[in-house]
Amino acid sequence: MDHETRDTINKDTNILHGGGARDPFTGALSIPIYNASTYHQSNVDVMQDFLYGRSQNPTRKALEESLAALEHATEAYAFTSGMAAISAAIMGTCQQGDHLVVTQDIYGGTYKLLTDYLPRFGITHTFADTTSLDALDKAITPDTKALFLESPSNPLLKIVDLTAVAELAARRELVTMIDNTFLSPYLLRPLDLGIDLSIHSATKFLGGHSDLSAGAVMTKSADLGRNIRFVQVFAGSMLNPQDCWLMLRGIKTLGARMKQQEQSAHTIARWLTEQSWIASVNFPGLAEHPGHDILARQADGFGCVISMATDTLQRARRIIDNVKIWSAAVSLGGVESILSYPARMSHASIPRAERDRLGIHEKLLRLSVGLEDPGDLIADLQRAAHR
Ligand SMILES: Cc1ncc(COP(=O)(O)O)c(C=O)c1O
Repeated sequence: MDHETRDTINKDTNILHGGGARDPFTGALSIPIYNASTYHQSNVDVMQDFLYGRSQNPTRKALEESLAALEHATEAYAFTSGMAAISAAIMGTCQQGDHLVVTQDIYGGTYKLLTDYLPRFGITHTFADTTSLDALDKAITPDTKALFLESPSNPLLKIVDLTAVAELAARRELVTMIDNTFLSPYLLRPLDLGIDLSIHSATKFLGGHSDLSAGAVMTKSADLGRNIRFVQVFAGSMLNPQDCWLMLRGIKTLGARMKQQEQSAHTIARWLTEQSWIASVNFPGLAEHPGHDILARQADGFGCVISMATDTLQRARRIIDNVKIWSAAVSLGGVESILSYPARMSHASIPRAERDRLGIHEKLLRLSVGLEDPGDLIADLQRAAHR
């Protein structure tokens, strides 16, 4: 489908027909898994579409067309994990001596990459409260090359005004990138708001079934796309054909899953706000959430991830140790509901003092709402909280 049609059709239709819908060689509606690592070249002087598995693969091409369609991107690239996608976005954009301004409460793996690894290659960063344009602006230095945003942030669900940040970045000639894992392309298409790169841990909502580790980067321009592709091919972090197929299959139900899961998340978040044993609830779908109005303007929904602080440490432990329907696990975005403990799981790599400063303390639990009946999920939390 041409880009103009792709970008104007309804997003539910786009999911199924925007890109990568049919195998161009056979017409198959399920793209075959092409396991080939190399391809016969009928004339070595003529460049073929497919030459070598690391650089091109038909299953991956179909997936990347589908991903590009989902976010109205010029190009999209599929990676072995969300971290590989984040690494490619930074490495494809920055070089030695460059500096990044980064959302302060980001995923723990991104924190680790920025603090313990990239400085070895001369790429530095400053964490800032990117919900404040003023704070973000103040963190920019003459060496700043890019802004790395996470919104809603993990696990505090803070919201960045992406349109305003994109305008600021354009004035300061900075590249903007966002980790869009939490909302998925179904609810948020950052490139439409002026952001340059959108990144996903496709392990989460894009895959959707807790059976896949993968990542994706979508780009607004072909120039940025070339740089990302360079890292994908020459750092060799491309997604394998089997996992490309799994993601293609997951994407077909993305809309149905997101709609249902978000509806349940609203019910659960509202119920949580009424419980005396809950100290606070972070869910941008609640009208009182500080980012609610911004997200209502820039996205099609509020997602299905909630975080909550319990009244006591013992309560948090009791819940995580006693839930029966929720899985106590790392990760999110699957069809099964997951309850996680950021301070001990996803954000354990952030030093304790820093976590406490940010509010990622030991009474904080994160909920990824799945497809189960919301009444059963509520009853499970209620029972576990009072055991
Ligand atoms: C917001 C966010 N970004 C990136 C990642 C990393 O993704 P992956 O585990 O697929 O490498 C995660 C993982 O939990 C995440 O929650």
